Amino acid sequence: MTVKIRDIKTFITRPERSDLVVVKVETTEPGLYGLGCATFTQRATAVKAAVDDYYREIMIGQDVNDIEDAWQRMAGSSYWRNGPVLNNAISGIDEALWDIKGKMAGMPVYQLIGGASRKGVLTFADALGSTKEEIGDAVEKHLRNGFRHIRCMFRLKDAVPENMKPAGAPSGNYLDPKRYIEYAVEVFRYLRERFGDEPELMLDVHEQLTPTETVYLAKCLEPYHLFFLEDSLPPEHPECFKDLRRAVSTPLAMGELFNNVNEYRNLITERDIDYVRCHISQIGGFSPALKLAHFCEYFNVRTAWHCPGDLSPVGCMAQIHLDMVVNNFGIQEWRGYHEATKEVFPGTPELNGIYVYPNDKPGWGVDFDEEAAKKYPGKGYQGDFFLSRLYDGTSVRS
Ligand code: CO
Repeated sequence: MTVKIRDIKTFITRPERSDLVVVKVETTEPGLYGLGCATFTQRATAVKAAVDDYYREIMIGQDVNDIEDAWQRMAGSSYWRNGPVLNNAISGIDEALWDIKGKMAGMPVYQLIGGASRKGVLTFADALGSTKEEIGDAVEKHLRNGFRHIRCMFRLKDAVPENMKPAGAPSGNYLDPKRYIEYAVEVFRYLRERFGDEPELMLDVHEQLTPTETVYLAKCLEPYHLFFLEDSLPPEHPECFKDLRRAVSTPLAMGELFNNVNEYRNLITERDIDYVRCHISQIGGFSPALKLAHFCEYFNVRTAWHCPGDLSPVGCMAQIHLDMVVNNFGIQEWRGYHEATKEVFPGTPELNGIYVYPNDKPGWGVDFDEEAAKKYPGKGYQGDFFLSRLYDGTSVRS
């Protein structure tokens, strides 16, 4: 019997600090539905409109079984394609169809795509701070909890002194690349002195330096043996990875801003990166992420999906299912969720030691409580969080 898509609903909820976009695909089979993550938190209502006003119409009445066909149809249906809003909208429906397929099969999704390659999914933790001592204390806490892989992040307070700025300079984040590089080196020197060589440490540059500055930073950091240097260059300059590759032996991770295959294909085939960091709803969902993961295997590139707070537990769990299966799994970013999120998303993955695990429920194993979600409505636009300025006021993406 053919099961068809009966309706598609989009929800925006904010149980923590980010608007989360969740797509629910309902079917002609009573009680059978699927959930997908479509979270583009900075443009959440645009994604909701793309689903509600366009993809809903296209997909209602379609067979739930034909996921690949559905993905291709959605991706091609607007003619102009490959952008973050539409990709996230497609992801919501794509992941919901995988959830439905798992439920129909009575299996967790990872069983449908090859079965487990490992017993649990290794995670890394984040150490945040605005001084090296604060970062060090956060690292120490994670080490005490058993973590071996820790990413260190900082945003310098008063990065640019007021007397360096021009009159009338706007408020907000400022970046002085020279001070940033000097401070990053100081942080890792301090961490190695305090903790020795055993912890695996990472730095996320957030694409805010020029290619030349990045090469200099990477050379300065090479003696501190990073596990990986992340997003050291913007996706607009993929060719610059070659310079970085030649300059240092540090593993390179890249990709949370990737939208389409042309942005990452050559970086992989040229072996210019070691870890791919895609935000999987941003590249169009589980179907393209599964292809990407297998493609990476042939070029010795490992997966390290982007999994911060602006990803629903459904999207996080989709990553965990991929992590369980692919041979070239590297490491899973783990931030964890608060109680409010667990209330809205029963089955939210939880850390057990330094590993996360899928559960044995069919599909993703994560549900969505529509009533609970109403308690935490989305907020919409939240300012230019990812914009910094150089000391003369010039904008720089960060
Ligand atoms: Co990043």
